Amino acid sequence: MKVVAVVSAKGGVGKSTVSANLSAALQAQGYPVIAVDLDPQNGLRYHFSLHQSTGLGLSGTIHGTPLSDIIRPTEAGVALLPYGECTEQERQDFEAELRHNKRWLSEKLHGMSLADDVMVVIDTPPGPSVYLSQALTAASLAVVVVLPDAGSYATLPQMRSLIETYCLGRPDFIDYGLLINQVEQAHQLGKDITQVLRTTFDERVVGLVHTDQALSEALAYGQNIFQYRSYSEGARDMQACGQWVLRRLGL
Ligand SMILES: Nc1ncnc2c1ncn2[C@@H]1O[C@H](COP(=O)(O)OP(=O)(O)OP(=O)(O)O)[C@@H](O)[C@H]1O
Ligand SMILES: [Mg+2]
Repeated sequence: MKVVAVVSAKGGVGKSTVSANLSAALQAQGYPVIAVDLDPQNGLRYHFSLHQSTGLGLSGTIHGTPLSDIIRPTEAGVALLPYGECTEQERQDFEAELRHNKRWLSEKLHGMSLADDVMVVIDTPPGPSVYLSQALTAASLAVVVVLPDAGSYATLPQMRSLIETYCLGRPDFIDYGLLINQVEQAHQLGKDITQVLRTTFDERVVGLVHTDQALSEALAYGQNIFQYRSYSEGARDMQACGQWVLRRLGL
């Protein structure tokens, strides 16, 4: 099993879009993929046309329901572990459990004894949270999603420090990379920041994903970009990001 945590300090930068489409890209390369929605927004399911309410945050999970019981197959071929539609009390109890056992997710995932080639892609809420620390603690690889703007750039030191805290020094952690999302050729400041990020992060740039309406339209149809428009720029970009991930995992 390899665990890819998709994270960002800022909200709305495209983590869920990347999680869903990266999962599909890895699945298209022949790897079994489990996409995990570790965000109480519970929105990753919409990328997979799944409208069920079971999931991680429901009280059963902390009382011993195995994760394998709540994983759902999807039309895209990716297995989905939804956050679930839970009550406020259930969310608070779940977060208390995550705060109490810092390796909760990691232990649950290892408890499933998944095959070596299984890819687990974890979507997270923005910024520091119990969810982010759980995802980073379980990660083999962290994909930091940023926009090529000053706001995202300013958050990079915070994200680096979180990765240092939860990942670096762990023997099963491989590396982190930066995925630059919503790149627009016509935007001069965006181009400049992209250039600075490429120079600074070099081999750690997972890839550039251009702004492509097809990526947001795919969500409106409950599909991933490969189902919705396989010849689009978004599909090409996401496929390249998948290839970076596989290379970095040594596959
Ligand atoms: N490359 C892209 N091109 C066009 N639209 C995009 C792209 N990436 C993301 N979007 C759109 O931007 C919006 C925010 O994306 P998304 O929900 O994936 O962000 P997020 O980081 O998961 O947000 P949150 O922090 O709330 O979890 C969505 O409407 C999505 O369709
Ligand atoms: Mg999201």
